[in-house]
Amino acid sequence: MRHLLSTRDLSRRDAIRILDVAEEMSAVGEREIKKLPALRGRTVVNLFFEDSTRTRISFEAAAKRLSADVITFAVKGSSVSKGESLKDTAQTLEAMSADAVVIRHWASGAPARLATSDWIDAAVINAGDGMHEHPTQALLDAFTLRRHWAKVSGVPSVGSDLAGMAVTIVGDVLHSRVARSNLWLLETLGASVTLVAPPTLVPVGAERWPCRITYDLDEALAAGPDAVMMLRLQAERMNAAFFPSTREYSRRWGFDDARLAALDTHGLDHTVIMHPGPMNRGLEISAAAADSPRSTVLAQVRNGVSVRMAALYLLLSGDDHQSPTTESTQE
Ligand code: CP
Repeated sequence: MRHLLSTRDLSRRDAIRILDVAEEMSAVGEREIKKLPALRGRTVVNLFFEDSTRTRISFEAAAKRLSADVITFAVKGSSVSKGESLKDTAQTLEAMSADAVVIRHWASGAPARLATSDWIDAAVINAGDGMHEHPTQALLDAFTLRRHWAKVSGVPSVGSDLAGMAVTIVGDVLHSRVARSNLWLLETLGASVTLVAPPTLVPVGAERWPCRITYDLDEALAAGPDAVMMLRLQAERMNAAFFPSTREYSRRWGFDDARLAALDTHGLDHTVIMHPGPMNRGLEISAAAADSPRSTVLAQVRNGVSVRMAALYLLLSGDDHQSPTTESTQE
């Protein structure tokens, strides 16, 4: 793996390898293993053209737990405001010896442009590009789902895919890079996917995607999903003609208290509720659902650090076979 741009590029073997390395990484940061020296002397640049809390901070934590140096670049306050291009910005950062560039950009395709240009030699990781993809989010979601599925099915996580699992993705699919990355990865890992969205928030061409599409959330919940992944309603990417109203959206496509109770009515004791964050509480998800024992929201954030450590390790160590946490490499 040279870059991580899209979950569409990942084979089943690649995806399981990343999730398995992330399982090993999940012990790092705890009392026994504070840090690994695996990326000592390497530099990771976080290049964020859009706001972020979880992704930016967890890439920073991941790089530091692998002993890499981290440079975080926020567009606000940078020379981008003076018109500096992506090429010049990236080359400036590479001149400071970047080995990996983690990029979030409002333009779909910006990470691929960087990776396929001859502007820089660094490995490129897509940390979310426009409405296109957010591959590390999908990987951390798959990691969370795999751990959950191991508890439900009794099959150990490590080495496994998600065959037999039913995942329902709900909400603003049109604007969601999280939905797209999850869809491709869940298909690769053998899960079955149902998308639930208002008709106006289903992308043109989605009928050719490897999933079932419905507009009826209650019908989708009655079908008994193992996980329900709520998406953020992305008001910042919508125009004034947006339909439905937020009130109607919440009533028909929000995971509210009644739908939380309906999981019990349907006997779905094991079903988890996911959200990539940030959440619009009271809109796509109620506070009771977000804070319930079924919610994996904070587990997803925690797992994000392990998954991003695995991605950085596999891209930068050139070591696709060894265990990253063998005794001799721990600090
Ligand atoms: N889930 C996610 O990408 O969150 P941030 O925008 O806070 O990084």
